Amino acid sequence: VKADPLKVMIAGAPASGKGTQCELIKSKYGLVHISAGDLLRAEIAAGSENGKRAKEFMEKGQLVPDEIVVNMVKERLLQPDAQEKGWLLDGYPRSYSQAMALETLNIRPDIFILLDVPDELLVERVVGRRLDPVTGKIYHLKYSPPENEEIASRLTQRFDDTEEKVKLRLQTHYQNVESLLSIYEDVIVEVKGDALVDDVFAEIDKQLTSSLDKKTEMVASA
Ligand code: AP5
Repeated sequence: VKADPLKVMIAGAPASGKGTQCELIKSKYGLVHISAGDLLRAEIAAGSENGKRAKEFMEKGQLVPDEIVVNMVKERLLQPDAQEKGWLLDGYPRSYSQAMALETLNIRPDIFILLDVPDELLVERVVGRRLDPVTGKIYHLKYSPPENEEIASRLTQRFDDTEEKVKLRLQTHYQNVESLLSIYEDVIVEVKGDALVDDVFAEIDKQLTSSLDKKTEMVASA
């Protein structure tokens, strides 16, 4: 008997390493990675009305209103691939109302990973972050530099990755994160995110494996 696929939420301050860890989780566990920020940036790139409105809020480091975000994520989550392979929700929910929208649909994670990184490291991570538009890979000029000149020359920076904007994003994060903690209290695992990428992943990997084992045991004993 096979257990249901794994359902994972990952949260943490801006630049705490959510995207970086999601890449590693995705390749090991085969989960469908759904990033609210990436979905919003895709809307902006497509030039849609929602994208235009979303950008106004993202530029101020504020949460994009629920009427744009909630359905966007819900639709992605309910696609067959996410239901079959399991999902990894990155940066969603970020508020009480977003979590409640999922609760209403009876959508709950097996595990809620909260990455914990001291504020003073976050600004440096944000301003040094670069993205490869070809592969989507996340780099950092100091901590994960590009492998060669060709990649280095095409790297881009996010419009909200300035010191000023990350401070606003941080404020928004702290205003909202508390309200999630009570909802997911029974499945929250706090992971220290200020270690080397591979060491952070080793801890997450351990937690996910244990979560998966528990699910399998439950099915076996049912
Ligand atoms: P989003 O795109 O989700 O941004 P964020 O939460 O600010 O998180 P980031 O993507 O900046 O960081 P990350 O944690 O993924 O870190 P990364 O792995 O890249 O959201 C953007 C905006 O969209 C929000 O401000 C909001 O307006 C809107 N939005 C999104 N979701 C929403 C929602 N649910 N509701 C409403 N609005 C929403 O790492 C950062 C850097 O650090 C990289 O350079 C990386 O190489 C480096 N790094 C990573 N790990 C390590 C390590 N262990 N050691 C050293 N360096 C590291």
